[in-house]
Amino acid sequence: MPTRREFARTAVAAGLGAGLCSKSDCWLATAAETPQWWLSPGRSLRECARERGLYFGAAVDPDRLDVEGLAAGRSRDGYTTLVNAEAGMVVAENAMKWKALRPTPSTFDFTAADQLMRFAALAGQQVRGHNLCWHQALPDWFRETASGVNARQLLVDHIRTVAGRYRGRIHSWDVVNEAIEPADGRPDALRHSPWLTLLGPEYIEIAFRAAAEADPLARLTYNDYGIEAESPEQNVKRGQVLLLLRRLKVRGVPLHAVGIQGHLLAGGPAFGPGLVNFIREAARMGLEVYITELDVNTRAVPGGAAEQDAAVASLYRSFLSQVLAEPNVPLVLIWGLTSAFSWLNDPGESWGHRPDGSRQRPLPFDDRLEPTPTFQAIEQAIRLAHPPTVTPAAAPEPNDGEDPNLFQPFAVKGSPAPASPNSER
Ligand code: G3I
Repeated sequence: MPTRREFARTAVAAGLGAGLCSKSDCWLATAAETPQWWLSPGRSLRECARERGLYFGAAVDPDRLDVEGLAAGRSRDGYTTLVNAEAGMVVAENAMKWKALRPTPSTFDFTAADQLMRFAALAGQQVRGHNLCWHQALPDWFRETASGVNARQLLVDHIRTVAGRYRGRIHSWDVVNEAIEPADGRPDALRHSPWLTLLGPEYIEIAFRAAAEADPLARLTYNDYGIEAESPEQNVKRGQVLLLLRRLKVRGVPLHAVGIQGHLLAGGPAFGPGLVNFIREAARMGLEVYITELDVNTRAVPGGAAEQDAAVASLYRSFLSQVLAEPNVPLVLIWGLTSAFSWLNDPGESWGHRPDGSRQRPLPFDDRLEPTPTFQAIEQAIRLAHPPTVTPAAAPEPNDGEDPNLFQPFAVKGSPAPASPNSER
């Protein structure tokens, strides 16, 4: 019986030759020789995390997974083998977004999402749902079809149908994604999202309550980015996110976790007390904190692969050592496993363009599915993690219901001057 390492090596060699991805988007080198795989004798990140009572996982695109091969117990695709071995939890990078699910206003297409769910079941993986309400990845028909009259029903029907379909099979949903944008100038720092325009600030509560009704077992998450590092902007955004969470909790909105996306920038501001205090404030609200989309952008890192890898590994180590020291951080998902499929290497993604045009190496496996130094950085951080404790649901904050300001915009120190009183919704 071949060992897992021998099987994986064979799979990679075979898989690379018969790679599932088309030439155009497949950067997996077709290796003549079997690439040296594991650079460390360590076990998979999935196993390391499980031992510490954590989940480790990654974003995946189901179209790139050999589900039938896995179902037949003989996948020979290197990428499929890697996802199966390294991820204890998966999240759809795009397959569960409105644009993927909603070809028309009256129809749903669950083909890709169902593939992901089937793969996860075969691989014994948990699944995060991403995402039920966002200002991006809306289908082309949305702008012409959604109105102030039908938007609430459109949102509730979508959430009931999607979350209802996978009821009891989703660990947690990103119910609302990226609703805070202080630069948009509102006192409550809500982003000028189509949902805000159509429904006002209440769209957030509507989404969470619809999700709770559709799947009472899923942990409901508010997910955002730009709240990781020590900078004036990120300090303001952290404060505004906490105020949003507080408003939702005070109103008894079903909310269980906050997602810190973790799209980090090598060479950017460091991590410090702001990050840890944010996690502890969330714990005081009875919320878990999920690291939901971790990767490291090296567009500002000069040099070649070695320099990139050193910068990336260092940032993973620094970030994870701080967040995993907190008892209410039970999971870490990275935004892909291999640079071969990272959004930062999408030609159309200017945010990831390196001045020399070279490819980014933001994840623990490179274009050839070989571990980078980031693999070891993540493994060590997981091994040193504080075992998560179950976050008790906090007693609801006193809400006499009389305070008229509970759902009014908050003025937060350092946030932009309040918009004019007749500001648009
Ligand atoms: O599938 C179509 C393809 O048919 C078409 O030919 C092609 C033409 O450009 O577009 C393809 O869709 C693309 C899709 O990714 C799948 O590859 C979209 O254009 C592209 O906009 C989309 O980008 C995704 C982006 O979210 C927007 O939804 C990225 O892959 C994904 O990594 C990124 O992930 C987001 C999280 O959801 C939220 N947090 C930030 C994170 C990074 O932006």
